[in-house]
Parts: sequence; C-alpha cells; structure tokens
Amino acid sequence: MTSVFIVYHSATGTTAKLAEAIGEGASEVGSTSVYGITGEEIISGRFQNETIWAKLDQADAIIFGSPTFMGGPSAQFKAFADASGDRWSDRKWADKVAAGFTIGSNLNGDQCNTLIYFSVLAAQHGMIWCGLDIPGGYDSLGRNRLGTQMGVTAQSADGQLSEIDLVTARYLGKRVAQIAKRLASAHE
Ligand SMILES: Cc1cc2nc3c(=O)[nH]c(=O)nc-3n(C[C@H](O)[C@H](O)[C@H](O)COP(=O)(O)O)c2cc1C
Repeated sequence: MTSVFIVYHSATGTTAKLAEAIGEGASEVGSTSVYGITGEEIISGRFQNETIWAKLDQADAIIFGSPTFMGGPSAQFKAFADASGDRWSDRKWADKVAAGFTIGSNLNGDQCNTLIYFSVLAAQHGMIWCGLDIPGGYDSLGRNRLGTQMGVTAQSADGQLSEIDLVTARYLGKRVAQIAKRLASAHE
C-alpha cells in the first residue's frame, strides 16, 4: 500500500491544521502518517528521533511543512532538515515523491521561499518534487487562491484557517499519494 509521511513543525497550530488536511487527502489513496516536530527532539540543534527516521525511510512520499518565519522555514524544521543529511549519502530518500506546504500571516509574506527551500531539500535527497496542478485564479472551486504552484501556501492573520486553503491542502495530499502509487506500480 502506498504510504505518505507528512512531517511538519508548527508553533501555534495553523501548520498542524494544514498537515491534518493533507493527511485526510492522502488517506483517500493509501496509508498516511502525520508527524509534528517538537522542540524536545532537537538536541544540540539537531532533530533526533530514530523511530521517525526509520518511518520516513520506509515511506513512498514525504510532504514537508513549516510556518514561514522570517521568509523561510522555522528553525525547528531546519534542524530536522539538517539532520536528514544523514540519509543523503546513502540516497535513502532518492526517488520518493516530495511536496510541501506553508502558512504565513501576510497574503504575500514570502511563503513561496519556504516552498522553494523544501523543493531544494527534496532535490538534495534525489526526490521527485510534486507541485500543485491547480491553476491559481482559474479553478472553478477557487482552490489555490494565492496562486502558488510550488505547493500549498496558506494565509491567516488570526489563526483561523481559510476553508479554501484546507480544501487545497486536501487536494495536494491526495495528488501526492496518487502519484506515489502510480510510480510504485511502474517500478513493479
Ligand atoms: C518569528 C516569526 C516570523 C514570522 N515571519 C513571517 C513571514 O516571514 N511571513 C509571513 O507571512 N508570516 C510570518 N509570520 C507569521 C506566521 O507564519 C503565522 O503566524 C503562521 O500561521 C504560524 O504558523 P503555526 O501556527 O503553524 O506556528 C511569522 C511569525 C513569527 C512568530
């Protein structure tokens, strides 16, 4: 069965809500894990959790999530990303599908830079980036309202999630799982 692992950091809970929505979409297709990075797992600046690393190594797809803080991913997410370097030389994540999501309080608060960072992280690992195929501004349901094709960008000034951002997140989760499933069957 196709497995999708969603790993994210959230300080005040809005990224966590997006992660849950992405998980709902992915679980329509395969098995899904949703995991929030905690500060307790960051020791001397590095994320450490062998159980999570083992699960990530097994997944068919990994979806990265973080709030946009100062125009990029949070320090907690970066501690996770830097520690993932231990999988890099052995190509443990090569050919897995990758995607990303983020949120900021501004309509254009440099969220795209966080998604670009995730895509570069995916490239470092030899993963296959999956963007959003909903044309911003041209969708009958209004999804991808902020017009980001790199992944899911959400915006909230008050901590309340826009329903349309959650719908967009569900869509990306399902899309990633479907693509991972298609790739897995092609390799059989
Ligand atoms: C230190 C800090 C930096 C932030 N930088 C940005 C930013 O660059 N762009 C933006 O749109 N929002 C920024 N925000 C707002 C957060 O991205 C926003 O509150 C987000 O919903 C928090 O996600 P969380 O609830 O998952 O922690 C920043 C917030 C903090 C605390």
